Amino acid sequence: MRRRPARAGALLLACAVLGCTASACTNAGAGVAGTPGAAGVRDPYFPKLGNGGYDVTHYDLRLAVDRKAEHLTGTATITARATQDLSAFHLDLVGLDVTGATVEGRPASVNRAGGELVLRPDTEVADHLREGRTFETVVRYSGAPRTLTDADGTHEGWLRTADGAVALGEPAGGPAWFPGNHHPSDKATYTVAVTVPEGLTAVSNGELASRRTTEGATGDPTLTTYTWRTTEPMASYLATVAIGRFATKESRTDDGLTVFTAVDPEVAAEAEPGLARIPRILAWEAERFGPYPFRSAGAVVDRAEDSEYALETQNRPYYPGPPTTGLLVHEMAHQWFGDSVTPATWRDMWLNEGLATYAEWLWSEDHEDTPARESFEAAYADDANWAFPPAEPPTAAGVSQPPVYGRGAMVVHRLRLAVDDDEKFFALLRGWTRTHRHGNASTADFTAYAEKATGLDLSRLWSVWLYGDGRPADPAEPDLP
Ligand code: TRP
Ligand code: ZN
Repeated sequence: MRRRPARAGALLLACAVLGCTASACTNAGAGVAGTPGAAGVRDPYFPKLGNGGYDVTHYDLRLAVDRKAEHLTGTATITARATQDLSAFHLDLVGLDVTGATVEGRPASVNRAGGELVLRPDTEVADHLREGRTFETVVRYSGAPRTLTDADGTHEGWLRTADGAVALGEPAGGPAWFPGNHHPSDKATYTVAVTVPEGLTAVSNGELASRRTTEGATGDPTLTTYTWRTTEPMASYLATVAIGRFATKESRTDDGLTVFTAVDPEVAAEAEPGLARIPRILAWEAERFGPYPFRSAGAVVDRAEDSEYALETQNRPYYPGPPTTGLLVHEMAHQWFGDSVTPATWRDMWLNEGLATYAEWLWSEDHEDTPARESFEAAYADDANWAFPPAEPPTAAGVSQPPVYGRGAMVVHRLRLAVDDDEKFFALLRGWTRTHRHGNASTADFTAYAEKATGLDLSRLWSVWLYGDGRPADPAEPDLP
């Protein structure tokens, strides 16, 4: 979510003073259409993700699913601010049927091309889509949401589970269940209301604002609507809804943080000891990484076969099966590294995975008698970590491959050695999460921040560990950067 001041006045003035072509003047003039927003935001790996010409500030998603959670009916109300004078704009949506759309309350024309939904607002409302203005779009849709295959071959989007479904969005699954600006650079707040038949529970990000049950008329099922509110900015790949038969629990940490867990009853007993550690892990992470960035935390635990991976969905990560302590540490570390400080583009993934992996090394150092040096050496010895430099994955599939995790964590460890003072090193991490809290950051932001915070020239560290091809010489070698 980025905010921009209204600039219509400045444009008019510029036209008057400088003189300009008729069309440019018309664009700045009253009541006339601008130009179409771009179909993507030029992500280096996913060029079609996201859309140009506007920033979303809020998503209001009203969803209803059937008993098997295989059919979805949705109304998405999207509040956005135009960043140019718009004559038309795109939303990302894959599959599903669009049954109607309005912009500023007037019917808009809708065209579909692949994963792009192109909306052309009524000319009557053109004034509302001038640069700097906020406008509201409503899209009604329905159908069977799709399971998508990632660049790396794993599955995302809408996944059917043993007793319901879960929506997972990293990196490109969001468009499978709601229309939006599906690039991490456009963060927004969310209201997600999900109506489910009796017996099912719907869990999402943020906090539960209400839970309402309506007795169905004779023959109709009893329905419950769960309304979840996310008031801190969230990237769309972190948005989730999990539907199933869940055992839910709400508690409070000593710091006053709400912890909400939803667990498949089949794995509840086995998951319990791990979940009981959530407050202790959060407190330990807050000491190292800075204050926990959100007002609530927790977990959603499904069965092992329900997904191929865990995901750091905002506030409450998603786990297929009872999580180990290491996995809890990893996904909760992402709340700082990824969810609050979000990558500017998918190229910056090592900032998520390198730091979340390093959090595991730090945990082992503090709790399992395994110094980070040993974790570093194990990662160093693993050939898989040397396939490519972590800051430059060769393909879209690369953003979730070992170098981004293991070598990303090695970069952080080398930085710690360069700082050579743990107090300063952890102060640097806390300064980083504070500076970019609830925002976006790139690799260049990180390297610049580290150099400024330490006063050191770290260019050799970056060129060898972050950008270099292949394994540098023996890490025990003290001359290494
Ligand atoms: N971010 C997840 C984790 O480390 C893993 C993951 C799932 C992932 N899907 C991905 C990483 C797609 C990159 C791209 O817990
Ligand atoms: Zn991760």
